[in-house]
Amino acid sequence: MKGIILSGGHGTRLRPLTHTGPKQLIPIANKPVICYAIDDLRNAGITDIGIILGTNMPEKIKEALGDGSDFGVNITYIMQGEPKGLAHAAKTACDFVKDEPFVMYLGDNILKAGIEELVDGFEDSKYSARILLQPVEDPRQFGVAELNDNQEVVNLVEKPKEPKSNLALVGIYLFTKEIFNAIDNIKPSWRDELEITDAIQRLIDTDHDVDSFVVEGWWKDTGKPEDVLDANQLILETINSSIEGVVEDDVKIKGRVVIGKDTIIKSGSVIRGPAVIGSNCIIEGYVGPYTAIGDNTKIIDSEIDSSIVMGEAIIHCEDKIVDSLIGLNAQITTGENKYPKGRSFVIGENSVVKL
Ligand code: TTP
Repeated sequence: MKGIILSGGHGTRLRPLTHTGPKQLIPIANKPVICYAIDDLRNAGITDIGIILGTNMPEKIKEALGDGSDFGVNITYIMQGEPKGLAHAAKTACDFVKDEPFVMYLGDNILKAGIEELVDGFEDSKYSARILLQPVEDPRQFGVAELNDNQEVVNLVEKPKEPKSNLALVGIYLFTKEIFNAIDNIKPSWRDELEITDAIQRLIDTDHDVDSFVVEGWWKDTGKPEDVLDANQLILETINSSIEGVVEDDVKIKGRVVIGKDTIIKSGSVIRGPAVIGSNCIIEGYVGPYTAIGDNTKIIDSEIDSSIVMGEAIIHCEDKIVDSLIGLNAQITTGENKYPKGRSFVIGENSVVKL
């Protein structure tokens, strides 16, 4: 079995972070989100992985993942170019997967339980596709599946006004090569994309069997800033403590905390886990639960919690920072002059500032 990870797309909902790199490299608990997909595939015994690249700085993905050997897998890069839909992205992998069944994993999705159980038995089954589903409160924003008594899919509708079930499609799919023929026979949707739901519906309509698997445990699509922070929180719930850096006297550490090498936690600081602090940071102040701080960051006389700091940042701020996504190399400092009063910003396109 092979794996493909979709790593193209515009990532418009994550601007400005996606102005400087693809969203699949956004760190969740200090690890790029795409690496969770690679881990899941490898843990399910799938080491031949095709990474589908888009137009938003694909070289950064190549630089981060290389040939895959650091992750125990073998990576082939496949260029999709402009994002013309999930089915279009899948079709670009046709020569890579050849006749083998494959897992298609959206590169910005994270699944708590991994995919071992999902993959089990698919290769020798009669099914042309297996989809993952999760019950959701408001299915109207998702692809929704209607099942028969054998858990087989009889109908798939994208964002239905009147959903026939509460089972939403999760961004991980299993296919045989039949999907390529189905993709060749669908038309672009109203948003001018080749939709994977239409390709799966085409399989069903041409008498192929599609089964389903309802996911236990959480699943996160990190397409929006609040989802990225949620995913960070969920992953931090699972970490174990490890302290490699220097913790000076008179520091309070509570809960599970990771502190990277060459990081210094200055005297008087309080770190409350679950939290991850990368390497070569200087922390002086308060780092609260559900915070991930990337390498080479300086937190000076400041308080932060429930946030992601992507690294190389300087934070020296009077006000406590909460629920924030702080990009690489960012600076948040409190002005030194008492007058004139006011805040000073250098804010890029699509930034969000809540005061
Ligand atoms: P989406 O989040 O649906 O699309 P997007 O990345 O364009 O985001 P936005 O709506 O914020 O502009 O994509 C889901 C995943 O699939 C994501 O990892 C990107 C990837 N993808 C491709 O690789 N090719 C494509 O053509 C599309 C549409 C998405």
